[in-house]
Amino acid sequence: MSAFAGKRILLCVSGGIAAYKAAALTSALVQRGAIVDVAMTEAAEEFVGPLTFAALTGRQVYSSLWDAPESIPHIRLVREAQVALVAPATADIIAKLAQGIAGDLVTSALLAARIPVLLAPAMNDAMYNDPATQSNLRTLRERGYEIVEPESGFLAERETGIGRLASEDAILQALETILTRTQSLKGKRVLITGGPTREAFDPVRFVSNPSTGATGIALAREAVLRGADVTLILGPTHLPPPAGVEVVAVVSAQDMYDAALGRAQEADLIIATAAVADWRPEKTSAQKTKKGEDDLDVRMVRTPDVLAAIGERKNSAVLVGFAAETENHETNARAKMARKHLDAIAVNDVSGGRAFGAQTNALTVLWGAGERRDLGVASKEVLAARLLDCIKNDVISD
Ligand SMILES: Cc1cc2nc3c(=O)[nH]c(=O)nc-3n(C[C@H](O)[C@H](O)[C@H](O)COP(=O)(O)O)c2cc1C
Repeated sequence: MSAFAGKRILLCVSGGIAAYKAAALTSALVQRGAIVDVAMTEAAEEFVGPLTFAALTGRQVYSSLWDAPESIPHIRLVREAQVALVAPATADIIAKLAQGIAGDLVTSALLAARIPVLLAPAMNDAMYNDPATQSNLRTLRERGYEIVEPESGFLAERETGIGRLASEDAILQALETILTRTQSLKGKRVLITGGPTREAFDPVRFVSNPSTGATGIALAREAVLRGADVTLILGPTHLPPPAGVEVVAVVSAQDMYDAALGRAQEADLIIATAAVADWRPEKTSAQKTKKGEDDLDVRMVRTPDVLAAIGERKNSAVLVGFAAETENHETNARAKMARKHLDAIAVNDVSGGRAFGAQTNALTVLWGAGERRDLGVASKEVLAARLLDCIKNDVISD
């Protein structure tokens, strides 16, 4: 069966000379069984009429923010689709997306998208090679947009260079890869721990760490997008948990241990990102400790090791831990992986306050006897997608 059968695709057409090729692409998608909604920029309509796309898709074509406001099409379109494709993507729309400008239906819809977005740039080679366009494409890639590179060859302005819209085959292939990936965890139960824990020594004071839970939340969101049943055991954080995830809110390391251990038995994949406190105050007083002139001695005792306990008891689940290290990163992480019976470990450098609470992160995944994959520097959302790809393609298949 075609990977496109029954799939909802939003095709955004912007105003480049290659807009006419979007019609053939629409037909190819429809013939493969996809349900295609087309959204056009005002400039795109100068090149091809909406009538062509309406006839090819058998569906209404959208081009104005102001039509049918009762159904808020710029949001609805990206909620109903499984993937958005921008073909051709002009220099202009690429710049607008990089800046978050949302002045028309297409850019508003793309800004509101939580689905994968594939860009197929097409333009004159000087426009493509301009540092502004290249920098915008880099920014978008870092934010998780996928790009199917233009080809070199004869350009509409009778010059030769890079900038021809990628071939129909290349675009279909890139879309197919995305659609297959979106189902890659279908039927799998994924358990994720995230956030800090708080270890109280009285009702108003606790020991904790600066983890925000962003990595666990990003992984949970990405796993849901890939079709998994996801449980997120989340320590105290101000960040909202993702939609479609069962969230178990916990406070202390002991709470996290209690919540995680039972659920780990049923999981196919467990990813432990939580920054669980290693020690807690030995005594917790029921009342607020009164401030006096004296210093306060608090004896700290070990908390249960959540990850090690899961590692000891797990059966066939794949268990991936995180290591936040400030020195000897890979050596320490490999030792932790062996000690806690992990299948893989994602290492990040938290020296100098990096990673905790930051927008971007850098991750390296270690597994097996000496295997490693550098996932690069990117937003936590992008790294979540790369980590799930790496677990599926490298760790599990090894
Ligand atoms: C004949 C003609 C061909 C064009 N071809 C392209 C093109 O291939 N790629 C591109 O990025 N811009 C091209 N442009 C410029 C865009 O149409 C212009 O930047 C427009 O504002 C894009 O709007 P949009 O991004 O909202 O669709 C072309 C303009 C004209 C008049």
